[in-house]
Amino acid sequence: MGLNKVGILTGGGDCSGLNAVIRAVTRSAIIEHGAKVVGIEAGFEGLVFNRTQELTIKTTRDILTLGGTILGTTNKGNPFEWREQNADGSISVYDYSDKAVQTIRELELDCLFVVGGEGTLELGYRFQERGIPVIGIPKTIDNDLDKTDYTFGYQTAVQVACEALDRLATTGRSHQRVMILEVMGRTAGWIALEAGIAGGAHIILLPEIPYDIESVVRKIRFRARGGSPYSIIMVAEGAKEIGGDVVTQESATTRLQGVPQLGGIGFHLANEIKKRIDLEVRCTVLGHVQRGGTPTAFDRVLGTRLGSYAVQAAAEEKFGTMVALRTPNITLVPLQELAGVVRRVPLDSQLVRCAESIGINLGREVG
Ligand code: F6P
Repeated sequence: MGLNKVGILTGGGDCSGLNAVIRAVTRSAIIEHGAKVVGIEAGFEGLVFNRTQELTIKTTRDILTLGGTILGTTNKGNPFEWREQNADGSISVYDYSDKAVQTIRELELDCLFVVGGEGTLELGYRFQERGIPVIGIPKTIDNDLDKTDYTFGYQTAVQVACEALDRLATTGRSHQRVMILEVMGRTAGWIALEAGIAGGAHIILLPEIPYDIESVVRKIRFRARGGSPYSIIMVAEGAKEIGGDVVTQESATTRLQGVPQLGGIGFHLANEIKKRIDLEVRCTVLGHVQRGGTPTAFDRVLGTRLGSYAVQAAAEEKFGTMVALRTPNITLVPLQELAGVVRRVPLDSQLVRCAESIGINLGREVG
C-alpha cells in the first residue's frame, strides 16, 4: 500500500533517542513514500485537543543528537481516563477517547506511530481496537518492555549512571566514605545492575531482590577490614528492604495518574547504614539526568532502525504491531502480547550470576 499521510506521537516519560525515531520516521515516510508526516504534540493530549505540526525533512534536520522529544510528551495522557484536578483538589475523570479518534479521522492518517513504554503502547493497542491503524515503537530508559532485546534510551541512561558512579568512586575513595547512587528504573533493576557492574559497584540493590541490611553492612565491614573503608553502592529507586516498602514521593504524578512516584530509597539506606557502622555515608540521587541529553551512538542507531522499519511495516499494513529488536534484526510483535507485561531482571539470569561471581553483593539475606 502507498502511504499518503502518517502521524507520530511520543508518550510517557521522555528519553534520549526519541528525536532519532521522529527523524527516521519522517525521512523514511517522505523519501520512500512521498507521504506527509504529522507530528502530534504532547503525546495523546495532542490528539484530544487537536494540536499537531507538519514534520518535514527540514524541520527534523539536526535533531538526531538532541535529547528529549521535539513533539513534547506528557505522563498525564490517557484519553480513556483523562484526569483533571479541580480547584478543591479533587480529581475528575473523563473519557476523551472519542475526541482523539475524531482527530485521527479528520487528519486522515494511514498509520499512527505510537512511541512509548508499556503504558503508552497499551493505549496504542486500545486505539487499534477502535479501528485506528497503529504501529508501536518501544522506548523507555527502564528497559522493562517485553519482546524486545533493548528499548532505546536505556543504553544512554546506563552510560550516564556509569559515569556518575566513576565520579563518585574517586571522591568516595579519597574521603574513605560509603557512597550511594540512586538510579531510576521503576520496578525493574536493569539500569542499576548494568551501570553498577560497569562502574565497579561493590553492592547493587535491585527491586527484584528485597535486600537484607545486615548483608549490606557485612559487605562494607568486610571491605573496611581488608583496608578499603570506602564502598560504592548502586541502588535502584524501586528497591526495598526485606519486609519494607518501596519509598515514594507525594507528587502530581501520583494524584493525576494514580501511579506512585518512586524515590528516596538511597537516603533511607544511608540512614540505616549510619545506624550500624561508624563510617561517613553520602547519597546522590541521579534523577532525570539519566533521561536528558545526547543519546549514545547505540541509541541513535536503534532509534533510527526502529523508525525506518516502522514505516516499512506501515506500508505493508502490519498494523497492531510493535517494532522490536531481536538482535541482529528488527522484527514485529503483536501489540496485544505486550499489554500488562513488565520485564524485570530474572534472578536466574547470567547477568545476576555474573555480578555475584565477581563478589558484588546484591543484598541477599545472610544466614
Ligand atoms: O519510566 C521512566 C522513568 O524515568 C522511571 O524510571 C521513573 O520512575 C519515572 O519515569 C519518573 O517519572 P517522572 O518524570 O514523572 O518523574
